[in-house]
Amino acid sequence: MNHTKQLLQQLSMLFAGLVAVLSVSTSFAAENVEEDAPRITEETPYVQSPKVVVDTMLEMAGVNSGDFLIDLGSGDGRIVTTAAKERKARGFGVDYDERLVKLATENARKAGVSDRASFFEQNIFKTDLGSASVITMYLLPEYNAVLKPTLLALRPGTRIVSHDYGIGDWEPDASKKIPVPEKRVGFEKASTILFWIVPAKVAGHWRSSVRTSSGIADIELMLKQKYQHFEGTAKLRGQEVAIERPFLKADYVSFRIQDGKDTLLFNGRVSNSRIAGEVIRGSEKMRWRALRTEELKE
Ligand SMILES: C[S@@+](CC[C@H](N)C(=O)[O-])C[C@H]1O[C@@H](n2cnc3c(N)ncnc32)[C@H](O)[C@@H]1O
Repeated sequence: MNHTKQLLQQLSMLFAGLVAVLSVSTSFAAENVEEDAPRITEETPYVQSPKVVVDTMLEMAGVNSGDFLIDLGSGDGRIVTTAAKERKARGFGVDYDERLVKLATENARKAGVSDRASFFEQNIFKTDLGSASVITMYLLPEYNAVLKPTLLALRPGTRIVSHDYGIGDWEPDASKKIPVPEKRVGFEKASTILFWIVPAKVAGHWRSSVRTSSGIADIELMLKQKYQHFEGTAKLRGQEVAIERPFLKADYVSFRIQDGKDTLLFNGRVSNSRIAGEVIRGSEKMRWRALRTEELKE
């Protein structure tokens, strides 16, 4: 074998070895990613939310006639049917148990709300939630954890209310514990109702300008976000200043920054990569627009 042939053979063996090592490490990495991802190990059984819990869930979410509610795992349909009958909302429930879907449909008919409450035999995880203004659920915590990315990606302002269980590490905006004497599961005759509002995505770099006491100045915002909380800095005339009192609720954002002796108060509505609102400096109110130049993941 001449030298070139030998070298080629060695190179191809080396390449094959590298491919093997790489594929082992990639599959290892992929396994790790999957191991970290929440998964369902136990199915959520059928347990009804007592009437007082349903009422509190609907009350905390402020359900009204303008709402479209989706109940994930709807059982006998009590949440959607109550929302339709007592609050004139519309909506649907999904459950993979065919008998429960029939029962829920029958219950809605008896309550006279078939035109506003429907039920489908469908897997929660394959349900399109895009039409919901309110999501209700009484599911095991690991279901909620799997649903978390889908819920966070819903339209900002979508309200979510859950009976007894949280959504992974996403802190609720409000929670309430109520006595439930008729509760059949658990030791405590009480239920916790948890409530969230889907926040707009504000993480990233934003550019805008603002009229200061010394003229128009460019302002750059660098924001980090974890669910409904954000923090960051602003660069004004090349100087970094802290963002103070950051507040985010649905698509409404506000914060303030200090510009020398002046306090600039910003507030606006976030829509995709734009914020439209106003800046207040002393008694002066100015239009404020910001554009995201780089999006960062939470
Ligand atoms: C705890 S019950 C809650 C019933 C009702 N939402 C209530 O609060 O009274 C949960 C329901 O989820 C349904 N369920 C569980 N896993 C599901 C899945 N992957 N897809 C659809 N329904 C599911 C069960 O059949 C059950 O009816």
